[in-house]
Formats: sequence, structure tokens, C-alpha cells
Amino acid sequence: MNFHDAERLLGLLRQDGFIAVDDPKDADLIVFNTCSIREKAEQKFLSEVGRLRRLKKQEPSKRIAVLGCVAQQQGKALLERMPHVDYVVGPQNISKFKEVLSRESGVLIEDNPDIAFEEIPAQRAEGVSAWVNIMYGCNNFCSYCVVPYTRGRERSRPPESILREVRELVSQGYKEVTLLGQNVNSYRGGVSFPRLLEMVNSVEGLERIRFVTSHPKDLNDELINAVASLQKVCEHIHLPLQSGSDRVLRLMNRRYTYAEYLKKVEKLRAKVPEIAITTDIIAGFPTETEEDHQATLRALEEIQFDGLFGFKFSPRPMTKASKMEGQLPEEVKAERLSEILELQDRITEKKNRALEGRVLDVLVEGPSEKDPRMLTGRTRTNKIVNFYGDTPRGSLVKVRITRGLRHSLQGEVISGSPSGRHI
Ligand code: 5AD
Ligand code: SF4
Repeated sequence: MNFHDAERLLGLLRQDGFIAVDDPKDADLIVFNTCSIREKAEQKFLSEVGRLRRLKKQEPSKRIAVLGCVAQQQGKALLERMPHVDYVVGPQNISKFKEVLSRESGVLIEDNPDIAFEEIPAQRAEGVSAWVNIMYGCNNFCSYCVVPYTRGRERSRPPESILREVRELVSQGYKEVTLLGQNVNSYRGGVSFPRLLEMVNSVEGLERIRFVTSHPKDLNDELINAVASLQKVCEHIHLPLQSGSDRVLRLMNRRYTYAEYLKKVEKLRAKVPEIAITTDIIAGFPTETEEDHQATLRALEEIQFDGLFGFKFSPRPMTKASKMEGQLPEEVKAERLSEILELQDRITEKKNRALEGRVLDVLVEGPSEKDPRMLTGRTRTNKIVNFYGDTPRGSLVKVRITRGLRHSLQGEVISGSPSGRHI
């Protein structure tokens, strides 16, 4: 979401003739797009922005702006703490950034009920895949999470506006869209989320549709059927479990039990046998016992996720969990997180190895970063595949998987190269 916010900000500034430069020394305007989901991200920003104090002193005409969730959280206090910052703009107010730029300094952190009706032209990096917002904000108030406080209430973008953007992206050459929202299943833009998927599925020239993130409590049969039946909707779902312990899930205010979650996973796999399921896990939530932690490890063994993002619990301002008794020491959180990651690494590798010999559709993204003689692309299940070939970016090729590694697959092209040349 943050990454795409930055793309929209760039699009907006380009309209005013700004161009991006690499070095802050060359910039008239320096923008920080900040994240406050965990403390680490926030600290990283604070040390980066501190470093600009001297530059601003040497060249006072440079403007420094702080956007994103840290801006929203700290508001005016940020200007007071960091006098070399000129503007503070929360994530709901990107569209008004230009307006504030015409002033000496300013703070924009108001709630923005119109956010879903704004059309901000994003400036995207070249590629095959584009992010598309479908909703903003979140109403769930998971007890650890700062997002409902920084991004405000859920607001859905009208389907016509989404479709217009997707068609435009296809005409620019994009093959894949990822529909973005904090909780896409509670999309309510006049039609349901599964109906929206159906509408996007009918856009000609589009090859693939992905969506993030889904909340398990709102994952219903209609959505499962849509994933099963809509040809362009990829066989991958990111479905954050957070914990395998019902006691912890209740404290997290997740509104499902592990058994309910598991049942949904089974339903998904019954209807979409190829589906890849990835998840988020928080290690060391307040009061989490060794027993709770073991329940999470058992859940990972039982479900066999394709991949996982794991985080140490990080107390965030305003959230209920930050004020709970029973905060755990850093070492306990770190130890549990590493156990979680190690177990998942083994599972991911095993699952990837099981794909050896299979022929999969791969959307080519371009030369591999690690080895430019190779191409890189993704399967419909969102797994990275590296292979030798000369097919242009954006083509779909059939690749036989020759090796399953921990974080990627290796393969060889068996069709789809227009020149027929395989290296
Ligand atoms: N501490 C640790 N992880 C968090 N997440 C959200 N808030 C916190 C927090 N306070 C994680 C959740 C969520 C992902 C985007 O970030 O796992 O799914
Ligand atoms: Fe945060 Fe929960 Fe909303 Fe996700 S669903 S953004 S974790 S409050």
C-alpha cells in the first residue's frame, strides 16, 4: 500500500513538472513516505530524516516533506521535533499535497471521506504488473495494529473508476493487476468483491488478477467460487493467520478461531486444488505462552503454507495491545520468530521441490537481478522462477521446473519463445 502511495505521489508531482532524482543533494523537494506498522520502520525513518538536518542548514530553500503513517501519527509534533521538516501529510491526504506545497509549511492530517472518489494518476515503474487501489482504510481494529488509526475508516472505490484504471493499464502494456486494500473482502463499492473480480476479469488483454489482503473472517464461499471459476484470477491467496492459538487470536481481536481458519483453508483447497496460500504470523504477542507458540508451530505444520511473513510483536501507539500486561522480552520474541521462520523455510523448500518436473505458466518480468543472463518471472501461484531464455517482458511461457529452491524455482522454457531459441 505504501509503495503504491509513493507511485501516486510521483504521478501527482509529475503533473507539476517535478522529476525524480537519485541524490537528495540534487533535489528541490525531499519526500519521505513513512510506515509505522512496526517500530523498526519508524526508527529507520527517524535516523534518515535526522541526517538531512545539515543539508537543510546549508540550503534552506530545499523543502522536506514527511508523508505516510508516521506523519499521520505525529502530526504537528513532528514539525516541532524536527524543525527542518516543512510539511507533514498523512496517507489520506496525498491528493492535497500540491496544495500544501504552495505554502511555507503545513500539516495535513484530516480524515478524508472522499478518498475513494479521488483519481490520482500513478507513476509506476515499468513492468508487467501494476498495483490498483480498490479500497482505503480499515475497520477491523486488530488489537496490535495501527492502520485503523492512521488510514482511517474503510472506503471503497467505485467499480467504474477501478475498471477505467485497469483498462488504461492494459493499454499501456501491463498484463497483471494486483487489487489493493487493507481488507479486500469487505469491499463495498456498490458491488461485492467477488463481483468486482468478475468485472475486472472481463477486461480484454489483461492476463492475471491478484489481490491483497484478505481477512479470514470475511473469506466467504462467493469469493472462493470466484477464485475457482474466474480464469484470470490467480491461484494464490495471502491470508494472515497471525497466531495458531485461539486465546491469542481472541486477544488480537481477529474474530476467528484456528478451527474456523483451517476450515476455510480446506474449502479453498477443495475448490482450487492448485492454490498457494501464504500468511502473516506475529511472534510474541503480549502474554503469549510457550504453549501458544507451540500451537502456532503446529498450525504451520498442519496447514503447510507456501510462504510466510513473520514479525516480532511491536507495540504501536494508540493500540490496545501496546497497553496490555504481559509484554514479552525481546529475546523471547526473537527466539520464537526464528523458530517460526526456520520451520516455514523447510516447508517452503519441500513444497518447491515437489514442483520439480511440473510445467507451469510463467509471466516473464525481465532479466533476473542476480544473473542478467537469466529471465525471471512468476507462476500463477506467485512463485518466482528463473530460467534461460530470450522472451520479452510480458510474455507468457510454459516452463518446466527443474529445481525447487528455498525462495525460488529454476526451470527451462518449453514453449512461448517467439524466436524458438532457447539458451
Ligand atoms: N507488530 C508486529 N506485526 C504487526 N503487523 C501489524 N501490526 C503489527 C505489530 N504491531 C503485521 C501483521 C499484519 C502485517 C501487515 O503486519 O502480521 O498482517
Ligand atoms: Fe491492521 Fe487488522 Fe486492519 Fe489488517 S485487518 S490493517 S491487521 S487492523
